[in-house]
Formats: sequence, C-alpha cells, structure tokens
Amino acid sequence: MLIRTPRRSDCLESEVTPEALYLNRRRFMQGAAFSAAAAGLPAIAQADPRYAGVEPANAPVWFDEKLRQANWGAVTVKNEAITPYPDATHYNNFYEFGPDKGDPARHASQLVTEPWVVTVDGEVAKPGKYSIEDLVSDAALEERIYRLRCVEAWSMVIPWLGVSLADLISRLEPTTDAKYVRFETLARPEQMPGMRTGFSLIDWPYVEGLRMDEAMHPLSLIAVGMYGRVLPNQNGAPMRLVVPWKYGFKSIKSIVRISFVREQPATTWESMAPQEYGFYANVNPNVSHPRWSQARERRLPGSLFSPNVRETQMFNGYKEEVAHLYTGMDLRKNY
Ligand code: MTE
Repeated sequence: MLIRTPRRSDCLESEVTPEALYLNRRRFMQGAAFSAAAAGLPAIAQADPRYAGVEPANAPVWFDEKLRQANWGAVTVKNEAITPYPDATHYNNFYEFGPDKGDPARHASQLVTEPWVVTVDGEVAKPGKYSIEDLVSDAALEERIYRLRCVEAWSMVIPWLGVSLADLISRLEPTTDAKYVRFETLARPEQMPGMRTGFSLIDWPYVEGLRMDEAMHPLSLIAVGMYGRVLPNQNGAPMRLVVPWKYGFKSIKSIVRISFVREQPATTWESMAPQEYGFYANVNPNVSHPRWSQARERRLPGSLFSPNVRETQMFNGYKEEVAHLYTGMDLRKNY
C-alpha cells in the first residue's frame, strides 16, 4: 500500500454540513427518490447539490426496486462533509485492477457484474449458490453515511447504500460451529489487469474475514450502492463489505464467496505482511504502523496547500458502538 505522511491542518468550514441542513435534504430526497428511481436516474444526484458529479448508471431491476423503499440517512456522521463522488470513485484501492489509485477507475469497466453468483458454504444450514438478488431480496436497503479510514492514513466520508450483514447472515442460518466469516473476491484475470501484471505480490483471490460477533454487529454492512446509485465497479460492484471501525482493507470488494468457518481465516494483507497488517485491523490512533503513525489522517479531498489533516479517532469514531467487542483484548497485540 502506498504511504503519504500527513501534515496537521484544520478541517475547512466549507466542508462541514450542518446536521439540520443535512436532514432537510434527506426529507426532500425521500420524496425525490421514487420519481428519480422510476426514471432510471440516480435519485441523490438529482436531489442534492453535494452529489454533483454522480454519474448515471444502468442499475439492475432488483436495485431500482429496492431503491424506492430505501431508508435514507439510517446512519449518518455529524458535522463532517461527504466526500465528493469524483474523489470517492477516482482514488481507489482495488489491486485486481492495478496498484495506482487511478487504475480501478481506468480499468474496472471491464468487469462483468451480471449475473453475479455468490457461493455460501461451511458451517451453515443453507449453503448453496445464490444470485445477488436472492441474497439481498428480503433485506431493506439503507443509506448509511460512514467514515472510511484507510491504513495508509487517508480517509473519506461515503454515503453507502446497503443491507445489514447481520440480517443477511441470519437468513443463511450459520451453525454454532461458525466462529468466523470468510469472504472472497472474484478472481477473473481476463477482466482484471492487475492480476495479470506478474508484479503483484498478492496471492489471489483477495480474502478477508471477521469474527462472528463482528460480522453480526449492526454497523457491518453489505454495500450494493453509494451516492444514491448502484455501486460503481471500482468501488466493489456488485457487492462489498463495509466495516467502518476497521481499516479499509477489511472492506473486501466484489464478493463471490461467503464461508462460515471454525478457525480464524488467513486473510490477504495479514498473510503478506503480518508484522504490518493484523487480522483485527481496528482503527487505532495509539498503535502505529511499523512505518508510519496512525495518529492522524488526511481527509480527502485535500491539496498540497490545504491537506486537510485531522486526528484519527479510536475505532474511527465508532468506539461507543464497538469497543465492547474487544473487552479484555490487548489491542497492541491484536492490531
Ligand atoms: N478489496 C479487494 N478485492 N481488493 C483490494 O485491493 N482494497 C482494500 C478494500 N477492499 C481492496 C479491497 C483497501 S486497501 C481499501 S482502503 C478499500 O477497499 C478502498 O475502498 P474504496 O476504493 O471504495 O475507497
């Protein structure tokens, strides 16, 4: 992962959206969502000036149907601006498409996401091959605005659209032997140029995992959209994990396999560099990466003269919600 050393500076006043203004916009969008979705246009792009630059998308029918019933603003962040769509979609990590931040946007249009089949296996009562629409069919689509903190010390605020991972898991009925959930990304080199380079040290497919109680936490999300539209390919279409209190590398993209397992799974970054990237990967300003501090982060967008650096919060600001998951654990050892 690339590294940049952040510098201290204050958050710009212009980047803060007062909550009342935000909520008013939400109410407006709730009304606007139906008509815009019916017109096949991204609702939020039409209704909210902060979503300027959102590219229209041809969403699958199941997505448009769910969008009409979406629960907007189910989770929000206070007084922090949403990252502009062009930044969230052109500054990405998705190594299957290449190592540079611009590679995913450049190459991910090659990815074919329909049909999309997810294999469910392991310690589970309902194993099988599920289409994405079957997997999310019973769950309500929620907009959740989360901070995203990359282990490389940059961060964004993203309005995801997704379904609760806990709901999805419950419907699959894992057995009591399931202690962890293992996720796997699609590995299709003919559509993923980053897999063909030979320079990559990654042992494909990209794998991530969560302890079962982490996966069942109400904040854990399976995202199928963002900014009021279907997920762009470079952000992990058609479905990805979002775990907002952990470093971004836990939020695995383009998932094709969900396995319920007894043992802690070997995950991609931990397997490659265990002294640098742990299984837990909880955002923690007090535990430095061996090569850089995690005390601060660069909130995107920034510029050379205004790098927009801020203090990193414990558990990325979700301490109240998730700290109990790690009671009694030494977070310096379990980084
Ligand atoms: N998932 C896969 N399959 N491949 C990847 O390279 N990168 C991770 C994560 N999920 C990655 C992945 C990292 S390091 C980060 S920070 C986030 O995706 C970035 O998500 P974004 O590009 O949507 O901001």
